[in-house]
Amino acid sequence: MNVAEIFETMEYGPAPEAAGPALAWLDRHDRTLGHFIGGAFVPGSGHFESINPATGKTLARIAQATPAEIDAAVAAARQALPAWSALPGHERARFLYALARQVQKHSRLLAVLETLDNGKPIRETRDIDVPLVARHFYHHAGWAQLKEREFPGHGPVGVVGQIIPWNFPLLMLAWKVAPALAAGNTVVLKPAEFTSLTALAFAELCQAVGLPKGVVNVVTGDGAAGACLVEHPGVDKIAFTGSTEVGRLIRRKTAGSGKRLSLELGGKSQFLVFDDADLDSVIEGAVDAIWFNQGQVCCAGSRLLVQESVAEPVLAKLRARMERLRVGDPLDKAVDIGAIVAPVQLARIERLVKQGVEEGATLWQPSWACPKEGCFYPPTLFTNVAPSATIAQEEIFGPVLVSMTFRTPAEAVALANNTRYGLAASVWTENVSLALDVARKVKAGTVWINATNLFDAASGFGGYRESGFGREGGREGMYEYLRPVEAPHAAPTTGSAASPSPSPSAARGPAAPPIDRTPKLFIAGKQARPDGGASLPVVGPAGEPLGEVGDGNRKDVRNAVEAAHAAEPGWSHSTAQLRAQILYYLAENLSARAAEFAARIARQTGGDGTAELEATIRRLFSYAAWADKYDGAVHGVPLRGLTLALVEPIGVMGLVAPDAAPLLGFVSLVAPAIAMGNTVVAVPSEKHPLSATDFYQVLETSDVPAGVVNVVTGRRDVLAPVLAAHDDVDALWYFGPGAGAKQVEELSAGNMKRTWADAGERDWLSPVAGEGPEFLREATQVKNVWTPSGD
Ligand code: NAI
Repeated sequence: MNVAEIFETMEYGPAPEAAGPALAWLDRHDRTLGHFIGGAFVPGSGHFESINPATGKTLARIAQATPAEIDAAVAAARQALPAWSALPGHERARFLYALARQVQKHSRLLAVLETLDNGKPIRETRDIDVPLVARHFYHHAGWAQLKEREFPGHGPVGVVGQIIPWNFPLLMLAWKVAPALAAGNTVVLKPAEFTSLTALAFAELCQAVGLPKGVVNVVTGDGAAGACLVEHPGVDKIAFTGSTEVGRLIRRKTAGSGKRLSLELGGKSQFLVFDDADLDSVIEGAVDAIWFNQGQVCCAGSRLLVQESVAEPVLAKLRARMERLRVGDPLDKAVDIGAIVAPVQLARIERLVKQGVEEGATLWQPSWACPKEGCFYPPTLFTNVAPSATIAQEEIFGPVLVSMTFRTPAEAVALANNTRYGLAASVWTENVSLALDVARKVKAGTVWINATNLFDAASGFGGYRESGFGREGGREGMYEYLRPVEAPHAAPTTGSAASPSPSPSAARGPAAPPIDRTPKLFIAGKQARPDGGASLPVVGPAGEPLGEVGDGNRKDVRNAVEAAHAAEPGWSHSTAQLRAQILYYLAENLSARAAEFAARIARQTGGDGTAELEATIRRLFSYAAWADKYDGAVHGVPLRGLTLALVEPIGVMGLVAPDAAPLLGFVSLVAPAIAMGNTVVAVPSEKHPLSATDFYQVLETSDVPAGVVNVVTGRRDVLAPVLAAHDDVDALWYFGPGAGAKQVEELSAGNMKRTWADAGERDWLSPVAGEGPEFLREATQVKNVWTPSGD
């Protein structure tokens, strides 16, 4: 018998991992688990069953949290907060380190428990989930250690409510709990109702390391418990991973509450194969992309986009490989695909697959049958799929791959970006310049080159577009759990002593002639009359008339967004050097008209126009400086190759300027946004709009490309909601009253745009409160490009 024959006849025998220790753990808890509140397990008042999806058998009874129990957990977290956040970073680091060690020491129990509860193969829980959990705690022990040095002026956000899904129960816990604790927050975590067990096992590890009571609390229950946590007034931040639908609900619920929010939502990630790719690697990559965790992965490579010339061989190899995949008992170490988490999820997959067939796509599944007992679904491939088909647009969250073809790289990028999501992408080509070019052009928070589904604590993970906002992991992930403690609203002013300035009275200037012209809007590089043909009066501090501005409306905002959209590709791809030059040029042209601008400011506010004017020039200089310095990093992930963290613009930004500081407030928003490569639609101060309308003359003479900065004057309460609801606006900054902030946050849920709403009185003159990394972070998003190389 030769090797080939052995290969053909060899059968897999069962190689089950022992479930005994995990079942004994459940028995120790009498198969009934309560909540973990204030450092102790407390019995729940009502229960539901947690089922093993591979067998349909009940594993344990889990408590359904009541509002009173959630109250108790939040109170415990609040009580623990002062002492925990006051600990030196080193001491918190020791706790996180101890947790990492505990995870490693109990890795077998955790892996088996996770497999029993979720249905994912033991090979994955053992080799991927649990090691990554330990890695997250180790890595964040490091951030705790370095917190004072690396994040000066920042403190914890407070009590954090964390709601996680069922696809990576323990890993999502680690992604949430580790950075929160490192930054000095305390947490109330709610695991998904299908998979609560490992979170409760983790709670025991917290007890084992002597974590102070109340620092970590775990409440179990369904969506109602999650909603109760979201709405709890004692929670300062919500961190959520789950469906876009629930993410949208949470955005609306937290709008205007002042709660910080990070959302990691769904995806329809592209797996792009170019004709020069190594096709055998492509096939193994596709297996990892869509059949890892039964395809229940937010960043699953669920859209296979193949260059036409290699489509046939790729699909043929893929079908051959699918024929060899093994679906079955998740505890069997030789199984590739385990069970779907629950019957409801299986039904959802079946429904979407049926719809795919009805819409005309061609379905292919392997010839073998899945186990009849339990929630199993075979690996599935769709061809002949129209880009607009439901299965090409909707997240299926199952082992279903949808394939399409393209001819050119440009077509590949267009097809890849034809989705409302933007979580991840995988690019397969041996041509490094093509790979990096495509990586830059796809809209996704993570791009893997000749690889897929790589994760690490050092590399931030999170979405673009409707895949959510905020990052988990890395430095950017830490910022999600930190806030500036030098309150931006009370920061000291570092005066303008450095440069000689005319006296305030000189700044106010001679009695100026009344202004009798109506400044226009500024759209697509041109002065434009407001669509409604109406104007608003502008008055000085004593109510004296100063002039009029256009009363912009919905149509004006739409025109401005269209202009910003058209300018966005050119501006976002311009060099940082060019953007810096333009910002310097703005400063230069503004200073040439300093006296006039200072006088105008003084007439509007009655304040010191010169100080504000000079601060504005300094601000433009700052962002010119930052344009090429606020950049990315190469992360030290445990992988041969490079993981490039690229800082990218968000796209089209709506900016609603504060009432205070007519010129400085306006420039403080526009300058960081455009320095980072965004294009903007800016709404000037409603009360003092004339400095911003004067400023468009400076824009006109400073080489700012048409459409990069658009200015729409008018009533804030009319314009801000239009920007917030506009699907082509990617981010919105709102510096105005709290009621308006709530409204824009609510409306932003439509396309899940990032919002930054600040109702406080900020000291715009201060170089601490008025400019800096906070603004730059809010104007950018990080894309991580993984480029493995070598063996
Ligand atoms: P889900 O979004 O409902 O559940 C995620 C978590 O949110 C769970 O802990 C759940 O209890 C909680 N939750 C549910 N409703 C809530 C509410 N109103 N307020 C606060 N928390 C709430 O996800 P589900 O229903 O389990 O799965 C449905 C679909 O969502 C899947 O088919 C998949 O497409 C997608 N999904 C995406 C995930 C991702 O990581 N991107 C994870 C889980 C699901």
